[in-house]
Amino acid sequence: MPPEIKQPPVEKTNLHPRNLHRQGYDLDLLMKITPELTKFVKPNKYDTKSINFSDPEAVKTLNRALLKQYYRIKHWDIPEGYLCPPIPGRADYIHYMADLLAETNGGTIPKGEQVKVLDVGTGANCVYPIIGNSVYGWEFVGTDIDPVAITSANEIITKNNKIKDSIICRLQTNAADVFKRVIKQDEVFDLTICNPPFHASWQEAQAGTNRKWDNLNNAKSQAPVLNFGGKNNELWCKGARRLLSGA
Ligand SMILES: C[S@@+](CC[C@H](N)C(=O)[O-])C[C@H]1O[C@@H](n2cnc3c(N)ncnc32)[C@H](O)[C@@H]1O
Repeated sequence: MPPEIKQPPVEKTNLHPRNLHRQGYDLDLLMKITPELTKFVKPNKYDTKSINFSDPEAVKTLNRALLKQYYRIKHWDIPEGYLCPPIPGRADYIHYMADLLAETNGGTIPKGEQVKVLDVGTGANCVYPIIGNSVYGWEFVGTDIDPVAITSANEIITKNNKIKDSIICRLQTNAADVFKRVIKQDEVFDLTICNPPFHASWQEAQAGTNRKWDNLNNAKSQAPVLNFGGKNNELWCKGARRLLSGA
């Protein structure tokens, strides 16, 4: 019998030091708390347990398990085809935002509901408010131009007692606006965050999907059917460059 080739767990040192996902995914633990994950877990070419990251259902189920285990979110779902966010990366962003707030708070990260955060483009997944509230106790207003995303985010919020008084979502009715209409008079925020649509056109978004697909060693021709999810408005918008640069 050939010797077993096992990969040692590698610490993800590129993630923020406080990121709970630096040690990778503990799939045995995650399968225990979310048994429906089990059917997606298979050995990869290194004989290490993994999931097929090009299968949206597998990624969604992994996210559900991660949000339950690390952020105490019991009910999480997104409509079909909507962006399924990589949790470690989104958590990283929140930790860096916490560091930023600490810079103007004598080096201490401000915690609790007195910290108000506006998440522009919260998406159907509501991921930043979930992580920010769970880790730092911040209160969030999430906005989006997509009514389906707002309905989905609201469903996540109402189904989870833990966040239902700390996160609210508002529909932005003009895609060209960012702050207008969604901020009430006298409302003040300590921080505004945003993960804007990355691409400036549909063609550019498609090329991005193809690149991701290639990285997973799959055929390009399959990419439009099986991508990582993301509706048009999640992936591209006019002026994406301007939004990304903050100009
Ligand atoms: C890349 S997705 C980010 C979703 C989620 N925050 C995440 O990180 O996974 C961008 C989101 O911004 C929303 N969006 C685009 N323009 C917007 C605007 N002017 N105001 C609010 N949301 C907007 C889109 O509908 C989409 O849900």
